Amino acid sequence: MRRPFVAGNWKLNRGPADAVALAEALRSAVSPSIPATVAVFPTTLSVHAVGKCLSGSAVAVGVQDVAPVALGAWTGDTSAAMARAIGCDFALVGHSERRARHQESIESTRAKIVAVLDAGLLPVLCVGETLDERQTGRAEATVLAQLAGALDGLPDDRLSGLSLAYEPVWAIGTGQVATPDVAQAMHATLRGWLGANRPVWVAEDLRILYGGSVAPGNAAELLAMPDIDGALVGGASLDAASFLAIVDAALRGA
Ligand code: 13P
Repeated sequence: MRRPFVAGNWKLNRGPADAVALAEALRSAVSPSIPATVAVFPTTLSVHAVGKCLSGSAVAVGVQDVAPVALGAWTGDTSAAMARAIGCDFALVGHSERRARHQESIESTRAKIVAVLDAGLLPVLCVGETLDERQTGRAEATVLAQLAGALDGLPDDRLSGLSLAYEPVWAIGTGQVATPDVAQAMHATLRGWLGANRPVWVAEDLRILYGGSVAPGNAAELLAMPDIDGALVGGASLDAASFLAIVDAALRGA
C-alpha cells in the first residue's frame, strides 16, 4: 500500500514573510497523524524560514533544485547537503521548467539525484513530455528516456526513497489538466518500465505523483486512479484552502 504524497511546488512565489504565513496555515490544519506525506517546496530564499515554521509538524519541506555537488565553486546554486542541514527532507529534480529554461540535461538530473541521495534527502524526479512530443506520438518514449537516463547506474538499493512526478508540460500552468485516463496510462507505463528493469519492489513501492493544473475540482478523480499516488501542485498550492482540499482528495482516493 503506497502512502499518498501531496506536494506543493511554490516555484518563484512567496518570499519569506508570505511563505511563513502560508506555512502557518498548513501547520495548524494538517494533523500530526495524517496518513499521507505532505510537503512544500518554497523558493530557495524562503526555505529556511518555512522549515523553522514547520519543524515538528506533519508538513515536510524540500528544495526545488540542487547542485550536482555538495559545495564548491557553483555560483547561484543550492546545496543538497546544506538543505538537509537546515531540516529539508525532499528535493525536486528535473522539473520541466529547469529542463527548458536552464537547459538541464538528462545527465544533469542523474548527477543531481546522486547529490540528493548522498545528502540524505529524498528525490522527487519530474518527467513529462511537451505538447509537440505528445501530438507526434513521442510522449512515452520521451518520458521513459527521462526516467531511464536519470536512474542509469543507480543501484537498486538507492531507489527506495525515490518518488516520481509525471508532469506533462502542456498541462503545467495552463488549466488543461490531463484526463484521469491519460495520466493513469502514463503512470502505468512508468511503473511498468520500473517493474521490467528493476526489482519488483521498486515498481510496487515507488510513488508516482501527477502534476499539471491540479486543483480542488479535478483532484479527486485523478487521485482515485490506481497508479496515481499523489499530486505535485503548483498554482493551487499557493492557497492553503485549495492545497488542503487536494490533500483531502488524496486521502479519500488512497
Ligand atoms: P500547476 O499546478 O500550476 O500547473 O504547476 C504544476 C507544476 O509544475 C508543479 O511542479
